[in-house]
This record gives sequence, C-alpha cells and structure tokens, in this order.
Amino acid sequence: MSKGVFITFEGIDGCGKSTQLNLLKNEFKAKGLEFIEVREPGGTAVGEKIRTILLDRKNDSMTRMAELLLFEAARAQITEEVILPALERGVHVLCDRFYDSTSAYQGYANKMGRDLTDFLNMKATNETTPDVTFLLDIDPKTAYGRRATRGEEDRIELMGLSYQEKVREGYLELARTEERITVLDADRSPEAIYEDIRKQVWDLIG
Ligand SMILES: Nc1ncnc2c1ncn2[C@@H]1O[C@H](COP(=O)(O)OP(=O)(O)OP(=O)(O)O)[C@@H](O)[C@H]1O
Ligand SMILES: [Mg+2]
Repeated sequence: MSKGVFITFEGIDGCGKSTQLNLLKNEFKAKGLEFIEVREPGGTAVGEKIRTILLDRKNDSMTRMAELLLFEAARAQITEEVILPALERGVHVLCDRFYDSTSAYQGYANKMGRDLTDFLNMKATNETTPDVTFLLDIDPKTAYGRRATRGEEDRIELMGLSYQEKVREGYLELARTEERITVLDADRSPEAIYEDIRKQVWDLIG
C-alpha cells in the first residue's frame, strides 16, 4: 500500500491556515479520500495539555528554551501517536502548523538559532518531513485586521506586530532553501489562494 501524503499549512497568526485547510478538507471528503486533520501544538491528550500551557497568558515568565522544548514535546507525541501511523496506513494527513513554525517563531523570531531548532525538529519527528508545505504569506497588519473580531489574544499573539514581522521573515528565509515549501500570496480571496493549493495537491495525489 502506498503511504499517505503529508500536507502542512504554515504562516503567521491569522494568515488563513485554518480557512485553507478547511477548503482542502471539504474536497478530500467530497472525493471520499481517507485523511485526518491535526493541529499543532495539540492533537493528542498529552499535546492538548502542553498547548494549554504554551498559550496561557498567565505563563509570561516562560523562558524561550522552555517554550521551544514544550513545542517539541507536543510534536514528538503527535508524530509518533497520530501522524506516522496514519501515513503508514495510507491515510493522508492535513496539518495546521508543523515544525516550520518552530523554525520561524522559536528559531528565527526568538533567536534560538536554526541549528538548534533544526536538530530538535528532526529528533522530535524522527525526520518525518511533509510532502508539501503551503506558506500563506501576508503582511502582519492585514492579518491582524482580519482577526480584529476574534476573542482574547493568546500568549504568543500578544507579542505584537513587530514579532509577527520577524516570524514572517523567518518563514520566507526558510522557503528560500526548502523546496517542499510553496509560498502563496495570502492577500487574495480564499478561493483564489485555494485554487493554487488544489492544483498542487492533485498533482501530488493524482
Ligand atoms: N483570504 C482571505 N481573505 C480575507 N479574510 C480571510 C481570508 N482567509 C481567512 N480569512 C479570515 O481571516 C481570519 C483568520 O483566518 P484563519 O483562522 O483561517 O487564519 P489562521 O492562520 O488559521 O489563524 P490562527 O493562526 O490564529 O489559527 C478568519 O476570520 C477568516 O475568516
Ligand atoms: Mg487557525
């Protein structure tokens, strides 16, 4: 049996990851394809507990290293418990954020360094690499405007626009060297963005 295809969505907060994942998910459903949808951090009992710690506004004393290791802990759990078994069974995996988030947020924006984040990303995932990654690239101000009607911001969202700008730079730098990352202009209608995504996905899945 052939392995499932592993697709990840990346980009700054509010860029449209969940929106695009949902559009793709609907098409997977309509075609009767077997897939699972997961989100990072979280997606397992252990991972959801870690997510709560990571996003809790009260944890403002969390060190950068503690934050990095918590993300990797949640990632290790979901990779071994959920993602790898699904791919092995031939089930496609649609993932809202994966290790590129750590490269951009912790490695680049938090200045932990790519050597460290690359090493931990590979260890946490046992080198499970996405087949394709869609990077939804957008100006943080535009993304923030989209989110204005949402609820309270979480700990990481509270870091502000200049932080999101750094994260964006980190993602774009990553995309320059990683061929699997497709950069998409996310300042378009959801339908226009999705058209680019679906073409590439059906090329891959056939
Ligand atoms: N292409 C688009 N044009 C305009 N608005 C959009 C577009 N895509 C998504 N939105 C809206 O912007 C908001 C953020 O989108 P979405 O939740 O998909 O982003 P996200 O990247 O998943 O955010 P988060 O990082 O917070 O999970 C939502 O209200 C959504 O309806
Ligand atoms: Mg989302």
